[in-house]
Amino acid sequence: MGYKVAIVGATGNVGREILSILDERGFPADEVVALASRRSQGTEVSFGDRVLKVKPLDQYDFSDTDICLMSAGGAISKEWAPKIGAQGCVVIDNSSAWRYDAQVPLIVPEVNADAIVGFSKLNIIANPNCSTAQLVVALKPLHDIATIKRVVVSTYQSVSGAGKEGMDELFTQTRAVFVNDPVESTKFTKRIAFNLIPHIDVFMEDGYTKEEWKVMAETKKILDPKIKLTCTAVRVPVFVSHSESVNIEFEKPITADEARDILREAPGCLVIDNPEEEQYITPYEATGEDATYISRIREDATVENGLNMWVVSDNLRKGAALNAVQIAEVLVNRKLIQPKKQAA
Ligand SMILES: NC(=O)c1ccc[n+]([C@@H]2O[C@H](COP(=O)([O-])OP(=O)(O)OC[C@H]3O[C@@H](n4cnc5c(N)ncnc54)[C@H](OP(=O)(O)O)[C@@H]3O)[C@@H](O)[C@H]2O)c1
Repeated sequence: MGYKVAIVGATGNVGREILSILDERGFPADEVVALASRRSQGTEVSFGDRVLKVKPLDQYDFSDTDICLMSAGGAISKEWAPKIGAQGCVVIDNSSAWRYDAQVPLIVPEVNADAIVGFSKLNIIANPNCSTAQLVVALKPLHDIATIKRVVVSTYQSVSGAGKEGMDELFTQTRAVFVNDPVESTKFTKRIAFNLIPHIDVFMEDGYTKEEWKVMAETKKILDPKIKLTCTAVRVPVFVSHSESVNIEFEKPITADEARDILREAPGCLVIDNPEEEQYITPYEATGEDATYISRIREDATVENGLNMWVVSDNLRKGAALNAVQIAEVLVNRKLIQPKKQAA
């Protein structure tokens, strides 16, 4: 007997990716239900070789559903996750609504799967920000060996991180430039086609953006509160996959060769690092893949025990959908939940 799984936001970028990853990985689901807003009622989404008709979230009864994978934005999660959790359905939430709540585990399975205990307080588990997920997968194995003191990260984030409207805006603007039409910005604050924007989410009082703050706060919660981290987050005209330039200062000595060897063995990591043969990863190449790719590992001679590296991953997969499905797999593999139908 398998699980009954609901996908909230099934028509969105992340929701569609969740459906394909559940199918690819053979998740033990007896039934998968696609949910979105009333606007999408009756539209169809693919799940493997099946087609699911989308149902409206606000008319769905979760009482016999085991797991809800939610990616419909923070406001929907804030309102719905507690109600769904109270019906005994475990919510794995992709928005930022619950990530900083002390009662909600924030999980990247390769890094802190054991922190999932306690999820049943609210029946909510949070998925991190896309930039945080790939960053901590790459940092954790190095932290275990050489203890990270400080990280400086600059992100190069694709437009799919801003949902399907972000992808549409890059496409429409690029076309407008070629055919000499006026370029209009509605989703992003400035033109994104043939440009980049050092502004993701809102500005905060200290001059950082909320996106930058998320990477700092989430890395501390997932990996280690003692790590000092500063971030600059930039939107770039790339459709899918986020890239990061990462500078790390360690307590103990570590060479580039040692870091390469450690990361080659680390879960979720794939090292492609032979610049002489032009072997390094770009976002285009990482798209559709599960791994967190690491390239350009080199020593930083300007600090004691410093390394630089280039980290790229598909933001819709490891940054969102894949990580959420991996969390569901932890629940199942560790027998932390049973299918309600079996229990009945
Ligand atoms: N994209 C990423 O890289 C990424 C990474 C990590 C986390 N996330 C988070 O994941 C969430 C979704 O992102 P996305 O990129 O998939 O966005 P998206 O492509 O814009 O999709 C949004 C989804 O939410 C649904 N929705 C909107 N209002 C709703 C309502 N009132 N009731 C039910 N469903 C509603 C939409 O359904 P309709 O089609 O019916 O409007 C759609 O399925 C966001 O919280 C985002 O921050 C995204």
